[in-house]
Formats: sequence, C-alpha cells, structure tokens
Amino acid sequence: MKRFLIIIIVLIFANVYPQSYRNGCVSSADELASEIGIKIMREGGNAIDAAVGVGFALSVVYPQAGNIGGGGFMVIHFIGGKNTSLDYREKAPSIASRDMYLDANGNVNDELSTTGHLAVGVPGSVAGMLYSLEKYGTMTRADVMKYAIDLAENGFRISSQLANLFNSYRSDFSKFNSSNNIFGKKFRSGDLFIQKDLANTLKDIRDKGKDGFYKGRVADLFVNEMRRGGGIISYSDLENYDVIERDVLKGTYRGYDLISMGPPASGGICLFYLLNIVEYFDVKSTGFGTAGLLHLFTEAMRRVYADRSEFMGDADFVSVPVDILTSKQYAKRRMKNFDGYHATPSDSIKHGDAYYRENLETTHYSVADKWGNCVAVTTTLNDNFGSKLVVDGAGFLLNNEMDDFSSKPGAPNMYGLIGSEANAIAPNKRMLSSMTPTIIFKDGKLLMVLGSPGGGRIITAVFQTIVNVIDFDMSLKDAIDAPRVHHQWYPDVLQVESGALNSETRNQLIQLGHQIKDIGAFGRIDAVMFNEDGSMIGYSDSRGYGKAVGY
Ligand code: DON
Repeated sequence: MKRFLIIIIVLIFANVYPQSYRNGCVSSADELASEIGIKIMREGGNAIDAAVGVGFALSVVYPQAGNIGGGGFMVIHFIGGKNTSLDYREKAPSIASRDMYLDANGNVNDELSTTGHLAVGVPGSVAGMLYSLEKYGTMTRADVMKYAIDLAENGFRISSQLANLFNSYRSDFSKFNSSNNIFGKKFRSGDLFIQKDLANTLKDIRDKGKDGFYKGRVADLFVNEMRRGGGIISYSDLENYDVIERDVLKGTYRGYDLISMGPPASGGICLFYLLNIVEYFDVKSTGFGTAGLLHLFTEAMRRVYADRSEFMGDADFVSVPVDILTSKQYAKRRMKNFDGYHATPSDSIKHGDAYYRENLETTHYSVADKWGNCVAVTTTLNDNFGSKLVVDGAGFLLNNEMDDFSSKPGAPNMYGLIGSEANAIAPNKRMLSSMTPTIIFKDGKLLMVLGSPGGGRIITAVFQTIVNVIDFDMSLKDAIDAPRVHHQWYPDVLQVESGALNSETRNQLIQLGHQIKDIGAFGRIDAVMFNEDGSMIGYSDSRGYGKAVGY
C-alpha cells in the first residue's frame, strides 16, 4: 500500500513538475503535436524538422489556431551561433484598399474584417514551414508530414477541451456550409475526428511542395471559395506569396542577450522596449506582485503601446524607427514623466470595447534539439478558428488576419488595439502583429525559448515571464503560471488576471489612480529552458491544455 502511494505521488509529481531531457524537448499547445516533434528528433531530425512536423500536426489537432490557412513567424538559433528569422505573415490581397472595411458613413464594419471571405489575408504558413525545411531541415517533406497526414486521414480522439470549444462555436460555423460540415457537429470528448479533405490537401503539399498549396487543385478550391463569398484573393496573390528571411531583432536585459521578431511583428520591439524601461529599476527589491512593481509595469506598458500604435507597421512599406524604439536612452527618456505616486492618464480617444472578447487564439511552440539548435514559432489564424471559413473541398480554415490592420486611424481592432497610418491597409502589405517568438542567452549559452498567444497581450505575457525568471529567480513553471497584468495605453485600464492582486495591492493601485479591470486568463506560454549542464526542461502554460515532451 505504502509503495503504491509513493508510486502515485511520484507520477503526479512527474506530471506537474517538468523533467530534464538531454536529447530534445518540444513544448506546444497539444500533446499529440509535441510528441510528433519528439518522434521526428528520435528519427534523426533536427529542431527545424521537428518544428515543421509540429506545425503541420497542429493544423490537424489544434484547428483553432494551428493552421495552413494562416501565417506566422519563426525565430531560429543554430548551433555555432548563427540566428535567423522567417516572416511568413499573411499579406493583404493585391486589390485590398485602405478603406475596404468602412461603410458609406466612414464607420468601420467589424464583421467584414473578422468573419468570412473578405477578412482573409493571403496565407503564409505553408510557404514558411516549407522554406525552413528546405533551407535548414535535414528530412524530406514526406518524413516530417507523415504524422499530420495520418492524424487527418485516420482521425484522432477529441479532448474534452476541444469538444467544448467546437461546440461553443457552432453558430459561427453554421454561417458557412463548408465549415459547418466539418466543425459544426455536436462533439463529445473521445469522438474520433477524421478530416479527409484536409488529409488530401496535406498530401498535395507533401507531393508538390509549395505548388501543392499555392497552385493547382488546392489553389482552384481556394479561389472558388473566394468567388463564392465576395473574397478578393486571386490566383496571382497565391502564386506570388513570398516568405521573407529577416535578420533577428537583438536586445539585452541585465546581461542577458535576447533575439526576437522584428517588423511586421511589433513583438520584438515592444518586448525589448519594456525590458529597457524596467532595467532602470530595482525590480527585485520592489518585490513580485507589489503595487510598486505593477504601477511601474503599467506605466511602461502604457508608453510602449502608445508608440506601437503610432509608429509600427510593415517596415517594407512604412519607415519604423526600430533603432530608436529599442534603444536604452529612448526608454529612459520616455519614463522622464513617470510619477511613482500617480497613474498618468492616457489621452481620450473614443473606441469600442471589443477587446474583452475571450477565447482569442494563436499558438506558440518551442523546440530544441540535442545539437543546440532551437526554434521559436508563433503562428495564428488570428481569432479562434480565424474567419470561421473553411475552403470547401480542401478542409482547412482561413485566417481573419486582415483585422490586424488599422481599418481606420484610432478605431480599435478586435483586441482593442488602435493604430495609425503606419498600419493602414495597402495592397500586398503585411498587417502588424504582436507575436513575440523569443530566444534568450546568457554568456553565449542558451537560456530559454518562449512565446505565447494572446493578441495584444502576447508581448506583456512574454515580458512578465522573462522578468519572473531573470529578476525573481522563479522556476520555469512558476514564472509561466504566475498571474499577469496588462495595459495597452487604450483603453486606459489595467487588466488583471485572477490572483494577480491581493486586496491591499488592488487598493494601493486604485489610490495611485489606476482603473482596474478583472479579466480571464491570458497568454499561454510554451517554453523550453536550459539548465546549467545543458539539459533542458519544457513547460506548457497551465492556462492551456498543452504539454511539453522530451527525451
Ligand atoms: O498577430 C497578432 O498579433 C494577432 N493576430 C495574434 C492573435 C492572437 O494571439 C489571438 N490569441 N490569443
């Protein structure tokens, strides 16, 4: 009996506390996908091969965000010290126009930028994943895609979380027959979910590479779908989709080196800017969770998001002052009017309340191999299940990423984020993103690979996790699970997760002039962290149902 109890306790402990691994580790939003990454590494693949296998698997088992009909960013560190980043963000179609979501009175029609055909940006995920595989992977498409194809063709058992999620979106799926036929049924936990059309699309990609998606049968189905519902993505938009390999954005924080994603992601700039600000303060002795620290975080976030709104967009179209925004001096200058005893009110621009919508989805996965290569990928359809529109006959969901553009200066998008000219819609332009795939080093050695979903809150979730590890010496699990706060300039409210404030801290923050709004959990960090001896641990945020796996 005693032995039995000990075994049970050890099993529970092993499940809750991350184990160390020597050969590889994957943390993703779904256990099946993480396991596929490990299988690929066991078969000799590197972190890039594994990341591509995980990405395709998530498009099958995590359709709320995993995708082939969306886009993303990949930050890669290679053994030997080289780094790179891939931008496979969606693009505006070539006949998109600045005011395409405005009605006759000049008001934004949110429905058009969020649901159905006109909300879709030209997808980049397939091009991005295949580009990384061909240039930096070691395995064939068939080898890395076989698990995803098998899961689509022969099905997988649906978890209770996924069944509940599908069921809660039934009325959205019912707007489109193609979506309703696949996702609109009443699901129960344990149901076998088979996706034949998706399996065939994946096979076309396996057999023909990029052309299997952007040309031929799948492109025909795609363009037909667009024509059926007033969408504007054409054959040439698909054919001309280009992945852009970019230099990583580099930053430092208290002697640590960081790499992250630059424009069209705002994630890297905003993360480094936040870290540059708090570096001037003694965060550790201010104390975790205190009013003093949360006041500082709020004032830093307020200023950073004000600049995000003004300056950031696709740097291939507008000039983004990246060097200034990420410089230590600028961070210091911006905090000159910081008042330790009062909240600085944000200006009063009118906007909606749309950011309180829950269940917005994106997904991040972190992969590390035994050689020292690692990959941070954040990918999205934007909203949960994107535009809710499935390409009829091709079995995959399309993004509603067009909503990440600023439809009208000062008008909030679905995350309540406002933008300006820099992020206005233009043909072939990439919409601004908050995605923040990041890798951290100490003295040239890997420390951590991380990222998160969460819309506009991605940046602040990643930021607080990093401060928790570096300033508060928290374990990976504690750093990720710790409650978070968020402020984004407008609306002028400090959003707090349950447990982030005790009643004394709450009162103190109110006294300082902050307006506090309790919100549901946000961000789902998936991270891999390296121990001193080079072994690694992974952890998947307890806010989600993902899992880190290793060997
Ligand atoms: O790229 C972006 O910033 C958004 N499309 C991300 C959406 C997101 O994280 C939704 N998830 N929770």
